[in-house]
Amino acid sequence: TTLVGLVGWRGMVGSVLMDRMQAEGDFAHFEPLFFSTSNAGGAAPAMAKNEKTLKDGYDINELKRCDIILTAQGGDYTNDVYPKLRAAGWNGHWIDAASSLRMKDNAVIVLDPVNMPVIKNALANGGKDWIGGNCTVSCMLMGVGALYKAGLVEWMSTQTYQAASGGGAQHMRELLTQFGTLNAEVKSLLDDPKSAILEIDRKIIAKQRSLTEAETANFGVPLGGSLIPWIDKDLGNGQSKEEWKGMAETNKILGLGEGFGSAAIPVDGFCVRIGAMRCHSQALTFKLKKDVPLADIEAMIAADNEWVKVVPNTREATIKDLTPVATTGTLTIPVGRIRKLAMGPEYIGAFTIGDQLLWGAAEPLRRMLRILLD
Ligand code: HSE
Repeated sequence: TTLVGLVGWRGMVGSVLMDRMQAEGDFAHFEPLFFSTSNAGGAAPAMAKNEKTLKDGYDINELKRCDIILTAQGGDYTNDVYPKLRAAGWNGHWIDAASSLRMKDNAVIVLDPVNMPVIKNALANGGKDWIGGNCTVSCMLMGVGALYKAGLVEWMSTQTYQAASGGGAQHMRELLTQFGTLNAEVKSLLDDPKSAILEIDRKIIAKQRSLTEAETANFGVPLGGSLIPWIDKDLGNGQSKEEWKGMAETNKILGLGEGFGSAAIPVDGFCVRIGAMRCHSQALTFKLKKDVPLADIEAMIAADNEWVKVVPNTREATIKDLTPVATTGTLTIPVGRIRKLAMGPEYIGAFTIGDQLLWGAAEPLRRMLRILLD
């Protein structure tokens, strides 16, 4: 039976991944070997079969035993261990949530409902490196991939509303702590219906501006009751790294662009951190190559995969079904607000949401594992 090494299974993405793998019965298809970077020798979790002890995540000889390694341990781990493992002659499949290897020529960004042909082609050519995409890009393509597959997109602009979870578990805690601090600051005024709203507002802004370093350690500035229009590194050209990924990864997932001998589709916009917990949302503007009736566009999007759900462009349906609160914890990718924009008949607007830990991280990886096992 296939030996699958699991690394980083205890973290936030790893835990969501383990839950999904158990829910789908994935463990019936392989022998798991659990690794740890901090607790080697400890007891493996209940899903373990014959190998009940945690192996050292840095032990190249133990890692080399695996036919497949699936890691959600993070980029530093990948940068450290992956080159050593390959240098030691390991020829297994490496499935990774981290971005370190994503843009390498021999790596495929996996999102099989969108790019199964790219995955199949790489498999046929001996591909061994399968990397999960940026969460925002993966969720976007699960929603509107149909328009790309149909070759309709001339360009796309995206304005994102990204959740705290994209930064990590500590970021989610920090956001909630800030909300609590702000609420506590004006609790007595809120309890008094006759209190003055502008006094509440003054106290809140004063508190936001005086949050301690400890209270903003992860985001660097207050997020609760505010927003941060910059995500990831400053590339020095006016663009954030998250914004750069939008175009680079969308094209790579689809098998388009320089590396594939074709023109890349321009994708650009602004990535913004907001005070949502774990769903990334985005407002999309498309310039299509031709005027396509709205009903056809909706039908194409709805038929693309079993998770996408077109939300009727009405106020009632939108506020009920097109929110992070409605989407969190589900594999559903709602796409709504689909309409023609004032700029002309080829200009389409849409709004889509995805759980950043599910389709944005864990789900494409466990599905790639199943593709390799089947
Ligand atoms: N870079 C993403 C974010 C995380 O910060 O929201 C997942 O790709």
